[in-house]
Amino acid sequence: MRFKGKVALVAGGTGGLGRAVSLAFLSERANVVVTYIRAEEFQALEGAAGVGGLRLAGHQVDVTDEAAARKLVDAIVAEHGRLDAMVNTVGGYAGGIKLWDLDTRTFDQMLALNLRSGYALTRAAMGQMLKQKAGAIVNVAAKAALDHAAGASAYAASKAAALAMIDCLAADAKGTGVRVNSILPSIIDTEANRKAMPDADFAKWPKSEDIANVILFLCSDDAKVIHGAAIPVYGES
Ligand SMILES: NC(=O)c1ccc[n+]([C@@H]2O[C@H](COP(=O)([O-])OP(=O)(O)OC[C@H]3O[C@@H](n4cnc5c(N)ncnc54)[C@H](OP(=O)(O)O)[C@@H]3O)[C@@H](O)[C@H]2O)c1
Repeated sequence: MRFKGKVALVAGGTGGLGRAVSLAFLSERANVVVTYIRAEEFQALEGAAGVGGLRLAGHQVDVTDEAAARKLVDAIVAEHGRLDAMVNTVGGYAGGIKLWDLDTRTFDQMLALNLRSGYALTRAAMGQMLKQKAGAIVNVAAKAALDHAAGASAYAASKAAALAMIDCLAADAKGTGVRVNSILPSIIDTEANRKAMPDADFAKWPKSEDIANVILFLCSDDAKVIHGAAIPVYGES
């Protein structure tokens, strides 16, 4: 019960990874606020949360919009008086497209989902966390931030930029009591990936729940000496 009475914002908390993070926080008695786009995804999370759903709230917010991200954090602070953890699991993928075939809309979308989301959310969360002199931020980047494959220029560039931004934020936040880290997944065992790659060996893919455990550890006092790290969570893949 490391998070009893604590308040966690899980942006994208209804998604493949985000859902596991939200449920893990709820199971450790946190108050959890998630963002979502599709209402049916939030309803599904509420259903999975069971009685824990009493400590779950959802906001239909585009977190790539800086003003909306600020409003969201203000609403959380107005209701709970604090924000202990902010996990950004919002992201998107575009691959298998050579740079010269890429359309600019896709490029902009990768930057928005994978970079601007973290920019808007961390700026919004830091205000409150600096006041508290405490807080933990985890931004989900990807192995592709370091490992630059053919066909993934927009995705890899957006994740590499997110990783660099969070590194800089960690340097900015030294001595403030706010800890900031990234995690680097490769392929995750999600419903969407199973549908997209039905012939793959799912047993080799890290489970969302196992990655959620690492994220909760990073948000907990057990990780008080971890700041400015980029943790690989791709097992042996
Ligand atoms: N899945 C993988 O194999 C994999 C591999 C490497 C890295 N990652 C990274 O891990 C993270 C989570 O991936 P995932 O597969 O769990 O993603 P996902 O299933 O697509 O979930 C994304 C979540 O973000 C929400 N969302 C999307 N755009 C949003 C916006 N503008 N504002 C607020 N919420 C928004 C979605 O809401 P709705 O569902 O309502 O649309 C959903 O809850 C991402 O950063 C991704 O890049 C994933």
